[in-house]
Amino acid sequence: MNTVTDDGYLDLFDHDSFASGVPHNTFARLRSEDPLSWTEGDESAKGFWNLTRYADINLANKESQIFTSARGIRIEDQSHEEYMARRTFQETDGAEHAMVRRKVNPNFSSKAMAGFEPLIRELASDIVSKAVAQSEFDVVGAIAKQLPMLMLGRILGVPDEDLEWLVEKGDALIGNTDPEFTDHVVDKMDTSAYRMMPFRSPAGVELYDYAADLLHNRRPVAKDAILDVLLRDEDGLDELAFKNFFCLLVAAGNDTTRYSIAMALNLIAHDSQLLIQLKSGDYWDTCADEFIRLASPTMHFRRTATQDYELHGKTIKEGDKVLLWFVSGSRDEEIFSNPNEAILDRKPNRHLAFGQGGAHVCLGRYLAKLEVQLVLQELAKRVESIEPLEPPSWTRSNFICGVKRLNVRVTPA
Ligand code: HEM
Repeated sequence: MNTVTDDGYLDLFDHDSFASGVPHNTFARLRSEDPLSWTEGDESAKGFWNLTRYADINLANKESQIFTSARGIRIEDQSHEEYMARRTFQETDGAEHAMVRRKVNPNFSSKAMAGFEPLIRELASDIVSKAVAQSEFDVVGAIAKQLPMLMLGRILGVPDEDLEWLVEKGDALIGNTDPEFTDHVVDKMDTSAYRMMPFRSPAGVELYDYAADLLHNRRPVAKDAILDVLLRDEDGLDELAFKNFFCLLVAAGNDTTRYSIAMALNLIAHDSQLLIQLKSGDYWDTCADEFIRLASPTMHFRRTATQDYELHGKTIKEGDKVLLWFVSGSRDEEIFSNPNEAILDRKPNRHLAFGQGGAHVCLGRYLAKLEVQLVLQELAKRVESIEPLEPPSWTRSNFICGVKRLNVRVTPA
């Protein structure tokens, strides 16, 4: 049962501060009173600066020469050796980053994703029909988890029968602070044996092995899927870069969309007006962005200052870690009216959930938005009401936030 109370002063370093959901009171106070705040670390990771205002996050995200991704993107401190072993193109900048981004971009473009629309709709229709037939069920496991998992398989080009396993490993990577997802909770035990593996996780070892099988033709890959494109590229990624890219996609392409759909379902279950609005059909162009803004599941990514930098009367020192709290910027009251409300026709909606405004803006954003929109369309057709049977349970993590379980009762349409 969740017990954390957000009095506005929760510690952003402590994963337990997030175990009842995002501490929005703490972020609101920081935006208003202390826009460049410092959080102390411990022996596992040094302290860091927090950027919580929309304008500051945007500024740091644009200035990648001053706030670099190429020294790590999570709170954890890494030696240079660890960084080199685990880095993906997300942990590079400038020409090095652009070179990989150019290779993979076409497979994720809005045009490529539009081609997937009939398939996504078919999968969503099937998933929602099966779930609704049960009438009482965990909406995250039955709906929110299913569509991103199946689409990840199509995007990567791996067989459906491998997906449960891949998603379990992806959960263990990205949920490495939540005992429900891993036996190796990074802030509770010594994980140094896995320091050269993605997310310091033993699941990284298994994913590396799977990726090695792909590289050496011991596993099938669907033609023209992203992994096939990379494997056929003569001037492509070396073995380590390929393995790390594979782990990045398994981690990034899965939980983020799951928690965005879960947030939408959680809000709909707690506010019957939202389902009525969706059923009207007037909100399909805008609602996915609004639910993703409110979910903002990857709450922050880190940068590192490459030089001293003055902001709000304080000095960020060269080498300091700086967290861009997208989850806070997306609720900045200077930019968004009634920021905590779901306004399904919000326009413009320049939220930061995808890291917009920087070179690393999410590659999977068109896919994610389409999945959220289509699954809600299929749901709105099939249900008359959704009600929660108990409070939602949340991930324990200061990095990824989401509803991980929500039991509901639905009345079919
Ligand atoms: C609602 C769902 C999603 C959210 C909220 C989300 C969030 C983000 C954010 C905030 C970034 C920026 C990272 C930074 O600034 O360092 C990012 C980058 C990225 N995302 Fe997503 N993501 C989502 C879905 C996906 C999906 C479905 C995929 C792939 C299938 C994906 C793949 C990536 C990749 C590869 C990057 C790195 C891009 C780069 O460094 O150039 N994401 N995502």
